[in-house]
Amino acid sequence: MKTKKVSKAVFPVAGLGTRFLPATKSIPKEIMTLVDRPLIQYAIDEARAAGIKEFIFVTSRGKSALEDYFDHAPELESELRRKGKTELLDILKDTNMDSGAIAYVRQNRPMGLGHAVWCARRLIGNEPFAVLLPDDVIAAEKPCLAQMVEAYEQTGGNMVAAMEVPPAKASSYGVLDIAEDMGAIVKAKGMVEKPKAEEAPSNLAVIGRYILSPSVLTKLNRMKQGVGGEIQLTDAIAEEIGSKDGGVYGYRFRGQRYDCGSKAGFLQATVAFGMARPDLRDEFTAYLHNTIAQQKAAQ
Ligand code: UTP
Repeated sequence: MKTKKVSKAVFPVAGLGTRFLPATKSIPKEIMTLVDRPLIQYAIDEARAAGIKEFIFVTSRGKSALEDYFDHAPELESELRRKGKTELLDILKDTNMDSGAIAYVRQNRPMGLGHAVWCARRLIGNEPFAVLLPDDVIAAEKPCLAQMVEAYEQTGGNMVAAMEVPPAKASSYGVLDIAEDMGAIVKAKGMVEKPKAEEAPSNLAVIGRYILSPSVLTKLNRMKQGVGGEIQLTDAIAEEIGSKDGGVYGYRFRGQRYDCGSKAGFLQATVAFGMARPDLRDEFTAYLHNTIAQQKAAQ
């Protein structure tokens, strides 16, 4: 299928991050570090690997640390250069964005994810775009968004990353109602935001990666507040189902997703990423084994 290239990505980072209070009173959640990189860096790297060239941040008050993070740091860089610390300079390179590649729009009040995406409408224009929620961190051999872009080239329309969850957990997610299951790709005939366990139409939950048609923005224009009094992105995407040139597809990505918006998920990700890092693996894994052995012995 002939699809337009997905070259823009929206990163909604205007939420309050209340689950991480008091830290998020002064630190944006997206700047919190998983091993030694802020959450937002993982999302940016994933977007770059999928061919994204323009990065749109939907920010809010108190997020200036996030904007500074992607700026050049001339004093730091010249000091590292003077000391011959080329490895550290290389690490910093990933944090520098080309001039004009990154744009910020403000969401004045946290009125929901749908509203946050809508705030970026003028920068998105009339082309398909990706949305990445930085608190969903996905460890995968081929980065999740790159997998989705490949699948999207077959389907067009709208694509959401989907993951199987137990029924009791469905009420924390948007859940797909499946019309046709084609393996990795499913065609949706409905989408429900945070259904009760007994009302969930399937066990396929939507997580924070999307490729959306610009017509979703038109739907968001008309959106009223949904579940939780927020303007829900899920509701606008659900309206795309059945549209002639659109449709909504779920994509069962290959990889492990960590919900770094929750404390337990963040800790799990820290352990997994720490154990996967060649420079930390041996020491950290030995420490974990010892700690568990000591706990067992004490029981
Ligand atoms: P969450 O549902 O995790 O909300 O948002 P939150 O405010 O970040 O965190 P809690 O629940 O209070 O702890 C998912 C993503 O959507 C963004 C958030 O920044 C996060 O990346 N978001 C949410 C917005 O940008 N604006 C909103 O109005 C709501």
